[in-house]
Amino acid sequence: MTKVATPSASSADADFYLPADAFFRANLPTALTFDDVSLATLYSEILPKDADTSTALGDELRLQIPIISSDMDTVTESRMAVAMALNGGLGLIHYNMSTKEQVKEVARVKRHIHGLIQDPIVVSPSQLIGDVLAMIDAKRFSFSTFPVVDAAGKLAGLLSGNVVKDRYKTKTVAEVMTPRAQLITEKESAAAKDPIKAADKFFSAHVGINKMLVVDKDGRLRGLVTSSDVEKITAEAKSRRKPARDSQFRLVAGAALSTIRQPNGDLDRDKILEHVAALAAEHVDAVAVSTAHGHTAGVGEVVKLVRGAFPHLTIIAGNVTSAAGVEFLATCGANAIKIGQGPGSICTTRIVAGVGIPQLTALFVAGSAAKKKGVRLIADGGITKSGDIVKALTLADAVICGGLLAGCREAPGEIMEIGGKVYKQYRGMGSLSAMKAGSAARYGHDKNDTTRKVAAEGIEALKEVSGSVDDVLGTLIGGVQSGMGYLGAANLPELRTKARFIRVSPAGQKEAAPHDVVEVSTRTN
Ligand code: XMP
Repeated sequence: MTKVATPSASSADADFYLPADAFFRANLPTALTFDDVSLATLYSEILPKDADTSTALGDELRLQIPIISSDMDTVTESRMAVAMALNGGLGLIHYNMSTKEQVKEVARVKRHIHGLIQDPIVVSPSQLIGDVLAMIDAKRFSFSTFPVVDAAGKLAGLLSGNVVKDRYKTKTVAEVMTPRAQLITEKESAAAKDPIKAADKFFSAHVGINKMLVVDKDGRLRGLVTSSDVEKITAEAKSRRKPARDSQFRLVAGAALSTIRQPNGDLDRDKILEHVAALAAEHVDAVAVSTAHGHTAGVGEVVKLVRGAFPHLTIIAGNVTSAAGVEFLATCGANAIKIGQGPGSICTTRIVAGVGIPQLTALFVAGSAAKKKGVRLIADGGITKSGDIVKALTLADAVICGGLLAGCREAPGEIMEIGGKVYKQYRGMGSLSAMKAGSAARYGHDKNDTTRKVAAEGIEALKEVSGSVDDVLGTLIGGVQSGMGYLGAANLPELRTKARFIRVSPAGQKEAAPHDVVEVSTRTN
């Protein structure tokens, strides 16, 4: 009897579950995105909780988690950037504001001291209680105690929540506040080094007080620590991921740069350099030259200009979806290249311009040039769940999220209620309203050009409010670590070398999601 050779178990795996190079080539000429593929499991000795998610965007910038919040005006300002850095990631502050305001936003992150609210909401002595009530209602504040500050910025008293009542609405703040003379405050010098430790001591010494007001030597209000924050931070200290900090222990922050042009169309080199110099003076950790088409003379020129003047600054540039685009931006001096044209949840580039590449194939193609040039890749757009991040990280060093973070309370914008549900605005930077607010240059348009109709490449939308950045990132990173555990990857470089892919059919996609049941729990990813 002739013996038929049966393949060994491992060779069957090797025939079906292919490493990236073989897999993407085998699927030519079809371009693939997240839901088109799944990753194969491997023998593992890695518990998810032990998987190391740290990454780098250049020699000077390390992150504890590979997630960056998008430089969009409905996603990242200082509050989001602080929350991202505290969780080990990075926030890129958008450029739909004046240069001066953007520099201030970066400074707010770099000067942030955990636990100390440096810009507390204050009221003035002459305000009516009725106006304070209206402000609480309009801004949906969950608190009603406010420091009272006079026109010179000096602390004048404390407006306690128990007098912020309708019955006092015609009285002024000065009439009902606890005056300055009766307040116990803390000196800025005593709280500066470790505000949480100082506040812990303060609240133990002064029973019943639950706001520590920090004042400078001239009596100006410099910040506020609440006892509930101190308790929360102390309790979280053990479980919290490590924040992303620079060498001076400041939180990291990034800022987007626009390709500013003069009226004649030439790049305004002086203005661009002035902008970056002001950001660098505030110790910005990365600048991102953010455009829809990064493989262009203009973007290359800006990257070269900034690289020449700031040799050690981490430069992120994009967006591209080709190896030639990566090579071009790397040669100009970028450290990390953003990959993604049209995958975003609010993007219409592929519909409007007919251009763009499904995200995983784009990342794979870009990867060959990134390796050659020694630059990092950032997968930008289209991430809707933690599994997408794991797949992106098999080909990239980090991901940028917009939509996943836009519903967080730390994202800019007001919360609105529609039919009993609460939402926040989320709009593409290529939507007409965002372009009017400043981002037109990102899409190669002039925001003041009213003579012709520009084509929007993004939509305006709403995101359901999704809680805090801590919660959202906790769920996302939990999923990433799960994925790493399944692949036996102790860290992200191992995830990249170990990943093996399989194509998923529409039936496989259906199988991957909950099916044939009535779901009773609310999933967060
Ligand atoms: P997600 O999927 O995370 O995508 O919401 C965020 C990314 O989308 C890009 N972006 C746009 N792309 N038109 C586009 O084609 C737009 O108006 C637009 N606005 C943002 C951007 O790369 C962002 O990080």
